[in-house]
Amino acid sequence: MGEVITVTSGKGGVGKSTLSANLSVGLAEAGKKVIAVDFDIGLRNLDMILGLENRIVYDVIDVMEGRCNLPQALINDKRSKNLYFLPASQTSDKNILEKDKVAKLIEDLKKEFDFIVLDSPAGIESGFEHSIFLADRAIVVTTPDVSAVRDADRVIGIIDAKSKKAQEGKEVQKHVVINRLKPEMVENGSMLSVDDVLSILALPLIGIIPDDEGIVTSTNEGEPIFYNQKSKAAEAYRRITKRVLGEEVSLMEIRSEKRGFFKRLFG
Ligand SMILES: Nc1ncnc2c1ncn2[C@@H]1O[C@H](COP(=O)(O)OP(=O)(O)OP(=O)(O)O)[C@@H](O)[C@H]1O
Ligand SMILES: [Mg+2]
Repeated sequence: MGEVITVTSGKGGVGKSTLSANLSVGLAEAGKKVIAVDFDIGLRNLDMILGLENRIVYDVIDVMEGRCNLPQALINDKRSKNLYFLPASQTSDKNILEKDKVAKLIEDLKKEFDFIVLDSPAGIESGFEHSIFLADRAIVVTTPDVSAVRDADRVIGIIDAKSKKAQEGKEVQKHVVINRLKPEMVENGSMLSVDDVLSILALPLIGIIPDDEGIVTSTNEGEPIFYNQKSKAAEAYRRITKRVLGEEVSLMEIRSEKRGFFKRLFG
């Protein structure tokens, strides 16, 4: 049975879809069979980051409503053959998801895939609860600013309260990703440091992603930055992928790699 990884956040626009896309590519490149599902109903954009928007025929709601079968709706990535994508619907009715149908879809996907990566809407949106309900693992993305971290903290509480696993008395594995870190801003005190964020959230850190202009370009070009061998953000996504796969990639390594950068961050 596959593992459901929900990528979520409290605040919107912190980098969930970008992480979902690059993590999905990373897991597929590591030989896993992966399905990336866009659960952000009405606001699809995972397709753009993956460069698959021109190939969409059916979407996740079509599958749930029986207008097509699952294989018809799945889009196979051209570059990473182990990667499949299921787009969000662009309906304006955000309450269209039904718990039983979502559960059936996810159960079907778990039989076929090693990893089901759910790109969730931000915690305030409807659709959010559906995407955490069946999570085996949740990755909570935040930027290093007080409002995003505070919202992330709230979302962690909701995951504990609303996920099926938690309701059954089991634990949903949870991790934090800190995105868009700018070392010079941490240094001058206008951005929270990694330690500041972790002291508020008290969850294990699975990755730190630097702010990287290349991400905007890669999204516009529909080519996930993961493939870019020179990008620092790509290196961060590669490390996150390895940690998700259980490999030990220490933060120490990242520190020594960009010594000046991390020395300042960690004091
Ligand atoms: N590390 C980064 N460096 C620079 N820009 C980034 C980084 N991560 C994400 N971005 C940019 O920030 C914007 C929001 O990213 P993204 O769409 O992944 O966030 P989101 O959390 O999925 O948003 P939403 O809540 O609207 O779904 C995008 O323009 C993206 O290109
Ligand atoms: Mg998004």
